[in-house]
Amino acid sequence: MVMNLPRPAIFAHRGASAYAPENTLAAFKLAVDQGADAIELDAKLCADGQIIVIHDQTVERTSNGAGKVADLPLSALQELDAGSWFGLEFKGEPIPTLDEVFEAVGQKIFINIELTNYASPRDLLPDKVAELIKRHNLQSQVMFSSFNPLALRRAHKLLPENFLGLLTPAGIAGVWARSWLGSCLVPYGALHPELKDVTVKLIARQHTRGRRVHTWTVNIPEDMAQLFQWGVDGIFTDDPLLAQKIRGEVQV
Ligand code: G3P
Ligand code: MG
Repeated sequence: MVMNLPRPAIFAHRGASAYAPENTLAAFKLAVDQGADAIELDAKLCADGQIIVIHDQTVERTSNGAGKVADLPLSALQELDAGSWFGLEFKGEPIPTLDEVFEAVGQKIFINIELTNYASPRDLLPDKVAELIKRHNLQSQVMFSSFNPLALRRAHKLLPENFLGLLTPAGIAGVWARSWLGSCLVPYGALHPELKDVTVKLIARQHTRGRRVHTWTVNIPEDMAQLFQWGVDGIFTDDPLLAQKIRGEVQV
């Protein structure tokens, strides 16, 4: 459970993505080896309804393929090389399914599953993810986050015990989500604002309401130190090693 993680918790954003290609088994396994408290990953459905772990709606940036994830079947996605763009030592690293991630690290580390059905907000992603969590018996090892209130509400209906993080768009676009409206729409336990929107006041206000604050994406030591001093409950970082070092220094 998220409450059992160290505070502040260090979430390896898309895995240890400063050291290995994001959202691959290599990055998730490395996050475990580096001692991150949790990993974050981006889940969405491909053309034949399988749950795929990839950030973008298209495959170009992080693989040698082309096209939209939603238009590609699992068999085509599995042929892609999602490692070479990052470094030749990762050549052939595949785009994983959520099933494969659960199999590889589900028993080893807490997982923040971002429901990224932003192009199809009412699709079956939450239902399929919930079913997979139950199949792997990982209910106590996962939480959900999303910018999509519908996905979070659906996940909550299916797995009411699981913790929700409401991702809030940066700046003015996310004012509604960080206000009372966000909490009316989603029964979230943690606000997930962008780094620049976090203030000591925002953290205090959430704490008064019994909620946590997990912020993204924090890669600069000075930002980490300030957030830790302000009492943030967690950060998403590409560099879990650096974050552990800074946490150690701040807590001394
Ligand atoms: O969950 C934090 C962060 O991953 C949200 O933004 O675009 O990196 O998925 P993004
Ligand atoms: Mg994400």
